[in-house]
Amino acid sequence: MSLRPAVITGLGSYVPDRVLSNKDLEEIVDTTDEWIVSHTGIKERRIASDEQATSDLALEAGRRALEDAGIGPDDLDMIICPTITPDHVFPATANILQDRIGASNAAGFDLLSGCTGFVYGLYVARQFIATGEMQNILVVAAEKLTSITDWTDRSTCVLFGDGAGAAVVSAGDDGVEGLAAFVLESYGEYGHLLDVPAGGSRHPVDEEVLRSRDNCLHMNGPELFKLAVRGIPEVAEKTIRKAGLTNSDIDWVVMHQANLRIIEAAARRLDIPDDRVVVNLDRYGNTSAASMAIALDEIYRDGRLQSGDTLLLVGFGAGFSLGGAIVKWQ
Ligand code: ACO
Repeated sequence: MSLRPAVITGLGSYVPDRVLSNKDLEEIVDTTDEWIVSHTGIKERRIASDEQATSDLALEAGRRALEDAGIGPDDLDMIICPTITPDHVFPATANILQDRIGASNAAGFDLLSGCTGFVYGLYVARQFIATGEMQNILVVAAEKLTSITDWTDRSTCVLFGDGAGAAVVSAGDDGVEGLAAFVLESYGEYGHLLDVPAGGSRHPVDEEVLRSRDNCLHMNGPELFKLAVRGIPEVAEKTIRKAGLTNSDIDWVVMHQANLRIIEAAARRLDIPDDRVVVNLDRYGNTSAASMAIALDEIYRDGRLQSGDTLLLVGFGAGFSLGGAIVKWQ
């Protein structure tokens, strides 16, 4: 069966106005700007207001991506919303967004794959386009991570921020490469290293949960660090080979923005020069599923990304999940 090409035709992102600096965090927990910068590379992050939920961030990013693609909401066949911080357990944030953005012809669902969610979302979108079922799909990765942050835990609360990034994936002309190759991997045996222990059917919220803050994000940072430093280069290599490329063919690497030391270690293993590796975690921290989408939009809007460039997206996250994508930029 010959598959239709799928291309990214529009990008958009949104981060809230409020900046929370490392200095601000020194007032909240026992930490220092020096520790946070030296261990993570993060200098500040954006914090959504009390009134803003994940769908509000997604709405702004989604509108910008539609405008960039030059299509209207009624042109959308599907909305996919990768997120670990949905507005509610249900209905899906994608359905809320479908109504608010006015996409009257679109179906929608959320996609739960932690920080790898944007890569998963692009892959799913590509499949619907490739079979000829759909023409335009909006992938909006959005997170209000501060809604599940334990502000008494210095080992996690310094890491995360809020934001959203969106891509319109559309059917491309024959012969165009666009979303060229994907590799997705899942390691459920490591799921316990990063989770929200309570609030689901296994352990509904009760007074003890609220007391122990098990409704917030828990993380074993050092173990995840080791998995990421090993896993990111491995999945990156597999994705590059699957596309029939070599590492030197890659113009831009957009990795999940979790920790500068992870990004630098992975880039060294891949032998890709620093100036080809996109970093914005110093300004936004770790925005989970949104991080690669925001970084991609930034290099597109500031003109670094040029037509003909080959992009490698590579992420890791809760699950434990890994994912890579090769995108030929049009
Ligand atoms: N300020 C000051 N000291 C701190 C802080 C803090 N914010 N946090 C931890 N420390 C202390 C610890 O208590 C420990 O002290 P001790 O030696 O006296 O016990 C010391 O610093 C070292 O702690 P480690 O946890 O070993 O520090 P590490 O160098 O591993 O850095 C970090 C921690 C930044 C979390 C790192 O492990 C990491 O980035 N891991 C990967 C996490 C990640 O990528 N998560 C995202 C995955 S998916 C997603 O994005 C949702």
